[in-house]
Amino acid sequence: MDELLRVARLILDSNYMVVFTGAGMSADSGIPTFRGSNGLWNRYRPEDLATPEAFMSDPVKVWSWYLWRISKLSKVSPHKGYRVLKRWYEAGYLKKVITQNVDGLFRRVGIDDVIELHGYIERARCMRCGYRDIIYNLDRSSLPIICPRCYGLMRPDVVWFGEPLDRNVLDEAYRVAREADLMLVIGTSGVVYPAAYIPYIARDSGATVIEINPEDTPISDIADIRLRNGAEKSLVEIDRELKKILKGLER
Ligand code: OAD
Repeated sequence: MDELLRVARLILDSNYMVVFTGAGMSADSGIPTFRGSNGLWNRYRPEDLATPEAFMSDPVKVWSWYLWRISKLSKVSPHKGYRVLKRWYEAGYLKKVITQNVDGLFRRVGIDDVIELHGYIERARCMRCGYRDIIYNLDRSSLPIICPRCYGLMRPDVVWFGEPLDRNVLDEAYRVAREADLMLVIGTSGVVYPAAYIPYIARDSGATVIEINPEDTPISDIADIRLRNGAEKSLVEIDRELKKILKGLER
C-alpha cells in the first residue's frame, strides 16, 4: 500500500495521536533549523548566546540576539502543514502536540495547549521573582529587560544549553508519549536529550511511530514508516489521502 495512504489509515484508526516536532517543522515557514548547513548553530556559537553564562556576562548582547530572532518571526506565518494539524486537532484526530520549538507557531495557528519543552521565545521570565510576561507587554526601550514587578533582570523564557527542562513540562510530555498509540515525529534531528527520548517512550509503550524528515536521524531506526519529504508537503499529502478515504466511506 502507498505509504501516505497507510499513514492516513493509521490516523483514522488511532485513539491518541501525538505530534512531536523539532525545528524542521518550521523550516517550510522560512525559519532556520539549528543544525545542518543553513542552521543557526553553524552561524552563531551557542555558548556565546544560549547559555546562562553568556547571558550573565553580556545580557544586552543575548537580548539583542533574541529580539532579532523574534523580529524575524513576526515576518513569517505557519505553513499549510500547520493548518492541516490544526484541522486534525479540531476534528479530534490529533490529541496533543509536544514541541522542542520556541517559535510559537502552533499557538499562532490556534493550537493553544502545546507542550513546549524548550520554552517560548516571545516570553520573558524574571530571574529574581519568577514573573513571566510576553515581551510585547514589557518595556524594551533599553536593554536588558527589567521586571516591572521587582526590577530584577528578565531573561528569555527558553531553555539554554546546560539547563534542565522544567520538570512538570517534561513529566507531562512523557505521560502524553506513553499514552500515544500513534506518534508523528516531524523535523527533529533527535540528538538533543531529554526531548529525544520521547519517540522511544512512545514506541516502548506500543505506539506506531512515523517520521517525517527529508533526512535520516537516529529516530529513523525505530520508525515504522519514514516519509522523506518536508513537513508541509508530507502533511498536505497525508491530509489529501485522509479526505479521500473519508469521502469513500461516506458514499
Ligand atoms: P535540528 O536543527 O537539530 O534538526 C532539524 C531537523 O529537521 C533535521 O533532522 C532536518 O533534516 C529536518 N528538516 C529540515 N528541513 C525540514 C523540512 N522542511 N521538513 C521536515 N524536516 C526538516 O533541530 P531540532 O531537532 O529541533 O534546543 O533541535 C533540537 C534542539 O536543539 C532545539 O530545540 C534547540 C537546539 O539547540 C534548545 O534551544 C534548547
